[in-house]
Amino acid sequence: MARILVVDEQPSVCMHVSEILRDLGHEVTSEHTGEDALRLCRAIEFDVVLVDLERESMKSADLLKVIHHECSETRVVIMSAGGSIEAAVDAMRLGAHDYLRKPTSRERLTEVMATCERGRTTELPAEGVARDPLRTASESGMVGRSRAIRELMEMVEKIARTDSSVLITGETGTGKELVGRAIHRLSPRVDKVFSAINSAAFPETLLESELFGHRRGAFTGASNNKKGIFEHAHGGTVFLDEVADMPASMQVKLLRFLQTGEIRPVGSESTRYVDVRLVAASNKPLEEEVAAGRFREDLYYRLAVIPIHVPPLRERVEDIAVLADHFIKTFAKKLGKRIDGLDPKALDVLMAHDWPGNIRQLENSIERGAALCRDHMIRVEDMPIRLREASLVREGETIQSLQVMERAHILATLERVGWNRKQAAELLQISTTTLWRRLKEFGIEGQPGREPTPQGFAGATPFAGDR
Ligand SMILES: Nc1ncnc2c1ncn2[C@@H]1O[C@H](COP(=O)(O)OP(=O)(O)OP(=O)(O)O)[C@@H](O)[C@H]1O
Ligand SMILES: [Mg+2]
Repeated sequence: MARILVVDEQPSVCMHVSEILRDLGHEVTSEHTGEDALRLCRAIEFDVVLVDLERESMKSADLLKVIHHECSETRVVIMSAGGSIEAAVDAMRLGAHDYLRKPTSRERLTEVMATCERGRTTELPAEGVARDPLRTASESGMVGRSRAIRELMEMVEKIARTDSSVLITGETGTGKELVGRAIHRLSPRVDKVFSAINSAAFPETLLESELFGHRRGAFTGASNNKKGIFEHAHGGTVFLDEVADMPASMQVKLLRFLQTGEIRPVGSESTRYVDVRLVAASNKPLEEEVAAGRFREDLYYRLAVIPIHVPPLRERVEDIAVLADHFIKTFAKKLGKRIDGLDPKALDVLMAHDWPGNIRQLENSIERGAALCRDHMIRVEDMPIRLREASLVREGETIQSLQVMERAHILATLERVGWNRKQAAELLQISTTTLWRRLKEFGIEGQPGREPTPQGFAGATPFAGDR
């Protein structure tokens, strides 16, 4: 039995839904306004909140935000009469767990309640289900187990089925292109071309010809007709990298293309229609570029229909060990070498580093380690000098360094025992409560999808591995 809150402006909807849910054995309360619902959510901890997304008066976005931040255990299910995939994606972006089209049925409500209990989504509107055998982001090569990366992977799986433009932001080396490729590989466009182009790598005129193509004789050196990236990728996906650096005149042309779906090759009188899904990426925050007047606001909104942020590695340290493992396997295979893993001290060094170059830097460090290591183990001396120095400097220095060391040591210990907190606490010779407090201080998450609690530790559920 779950404790459920139904929020809908229309009493008839509340009654209909509540009745079914009660009949299914749940305890149900209903509210008609967002304000009342908010107040109630703050007072009572609901397992599931079903809320109508479309009513202005509901302030459903606010409600979602509050629930997301203050009641992390509560699952939110969005109800909507629209039924468009965009509405569903919007809901997911706001942190909803699942999506329900109105009017709904007993079957569908049963299903949704079951997914709330299992913790995974079943249905999105059925348009364009991928033909691809790949179904998950991890099958497409994304590795990680932090909450941030799992949420990102779920998001990628969902938006892959839509055609909306995506804007991926994140620091250098965080995996923006990998995310772009995953979106393509999980989409119905998978049989068609994925084309990546770096907007910063071409002078203005050349960029135009690269994107839209040119006619023979359009400019000096244009000795043949040439197809542009968009035409080449017809039916597929174009990954437009470093989009912030696009010159103003090209921004106008790109906007026109997004509005009309038509391209006009340089030197051509006529336009033609192409169907591509655009995924743009930027390591500068594009909003700031807009605010500074360097990037067109209208283009920004066209590109960022679905914004995705890939967090830096230092904000998801839980991913370091699995990523290292993944790269060790890759490079061992490439080098034809047996490598069993990382020496515990080497893992400590990786855990203590702040990774300004993010995953690419980690990948390079492991590549180096894999090449240098001699007795089937990557050791500290096989690590790049920068990493070793950083950890040496920290040793025995200020309080802050001690904290860094402690954090790294706790993380490495957790890693060794497969994130079983009880065992980790024993090894560390501290109580589970102390461990819990430390992790909270260090901003390290607990069980997937939840904040750590002392009870959660006693239960000692290890993290789920890669999906
Ligand atoms: N979650 C991940 N799992 C496995 N490999 C990853 C992951 N994220 C990134 N990588 C790898 O890290 C490297 C860098 O990723 P990618 O090129 O996608 O980063 P980027 O954000 O586009 O970087 P830049 O801003 O410098 O262009 C790639 O080799 C990629 O395969
Ligand atoms: Mg890139």
